Amino acid sequence: MAPIIKSKEEREKIRAAGHIVAAMLAELRQTVQPGVTTAEIDTLAAEALKRYGAKSSSLGYHGYPSSLCTSVNEEVVHGIPGKRILREGDIISIDLALHSNGWHADSAITVPVGAVTPAVQQLLKVTEDALYRGIAAARAGNRLQDIGRAVQQFVEAAGFSVVRHYGGHGVGRSMHEDPQVLNYVEPGYTNYMLKPGMVIAIEPMVIMGKKETRVLADEWTVVSVDGTHAAHFEHTVAITEGDADILTR
Ligand code: MF3
Ligand code: CO
Repeated sequence: MAPIIKSKEEREKIRAAGHIVAAMLAELRQTVQPGVTTAEIDTLAAEALKRYGAKSSSLGYHGYPSSLCTSVNEEVVHGIPGKRILREGDIISIDLALHSNGWHADSAITVPVGAVTPAVQQLLKVTEDALYRGIAAARAGNRLQDIGRAVQQFVEAAGFSVVRHYGGHGVGRSMHEDPQVLNYVEPGYTNYMLKPGMVIAIEPMVIMGKKETRVLADEWTVVSVDGTHAAHFEHTVAITEGDADILTR
């Protein structure tokens, strides 16, 4: 299906949801410290959602059991909060999608737990910068694959790998709409012209080592096959006549 174009008013409603996502991620990142479990972060998220009058988009999504995704170290994405205890030197991706007044917004950050090695610091920086390279390419008149090309070139130049198969997506009345927004170039894949009013989540997932991933027996948690660390940053953005408008600030 062709991407849905959102009016100015609709984009403002997504921005309102996006403000809640941004505020919650700012709160949750403060709670990341050695000794905390990922389940505790999920509980805090559930409380904050109530406070903001918003609902998790992931809870119940194809049976997903939690208010958000927490992916630690070699976990790439879709980690389920649980008993895992954060330790000094870990990294944790907190991926939060919610809806408010019928509109969704989706954003993710990866946060260090205490001090991390310089190589891991570099992974975090490259992944976040890759997100902004992707956002810079998300301009009317460019095509969808220009986003993936910008992300892939930047990540590979830094010596890291871009995750395949998982990627960004349209955002609106649903958490996941067309188009899929890949973080790499896939010849023959959909390559829509970007148009003002499209709203998409851009979410590079980057592995320090090899690009291959597998899904754990819980049927959700995606991990790197080689066991090296992965990072993930995401914003929901609107395509405009000029620079993309970040709705999850
Ligand atoms: N927020 C995730 C995304 O970026 C979606 C995770 S929800 C899950 O698309 F239910 F699929 F885990
Ligand atoms: Co997303």
